[in-house]
Amino acid sequence: MELTLTRSRLRPWRHGDEASLVRHADNRKIWKNVRDHFPHPYTMTDAERWIFHASTALSTTVFAIEVQGNAVGSIGLVPKEDVYRRSMEIGYWLGEQYWGRGIVTEAVGAMTAYGFDTFDIVRIFADIFVWNTASVRVLEKNGYEFEARLKKAIIKDGEVGDVLLYARTI
Ligand SMILES: CC(C)(COP(=O)(O)OP(=O)(O)OC[C@H]1O[C@@H](n2cnc3c(N)ncnc32)[C@H](O)[C@@H]1OP(=O)(O)O)[C@@H](O)C(=O)NCCC(=O)NCCS
Repeated sequence: MELTLTRSRLRPWRHGDEASLVRHADNRKIWKNVRDHFPHPYTMTDAERWIFHASTALSTTVFAIEVQGNAVGSIGLVPKEDVYRRSMEIGYWLGEQYWGRGIVTEAVGAMTAYGFDTFDIVRIFADIFVWNTASVRVLEKNGYEFEARLKKAIIKDGEVGDVLLYARTI
């Protein structure tokens, strides 16, 4: 799968992306808004592991966000299991130097359409840490609706916080 958008290209992660991945992912401001399995600091070994995994097992669900020929972010859909099997969770991050240009808003729109067209799902959702207003905007601009505030659902960087649940259904 490869999607050429106006602001970026979404394509599978591949060998050769490691240095760019480290350059953009090694950022506390990104880590602060994602789960703890996202490494910080983000090393070359982390990048090699991720690219091996993403370029094989995840090659139809997780894509690099490529800008000017470099992989500068990631966007993906995580399948859910059992009674949740017709749902997927969307996740994304972008290198800080590219923030505020509408890149992820456009990428989320394209991934949402791709997800509903490609997989047998009826729901795509995201859990957003309560302080992440930029991510809320990205989802709202793509027709995701606020469903719930999960009080004290997470601990991140030593701080207990609420989670905002957003979803789009068909
Ligand atoms: C969230 C993130 C993916 C947004 O990517 P982006 O390409 O910069 O987003 P866009 O430019 O498409 O849109 C950002 C929107 O948020 C708004 N925004 C940005 N920073 C903001 C802030 N601090 N407060 C309020 N709104 C903010 C922008 O103004 C824009 O909305 P608008 O079009 O209504 O003006 C990016 O900031 C990021 O990678 N953050 C760290 C990781 C992360 O949060 N991942 C998501 C976890 S749920």
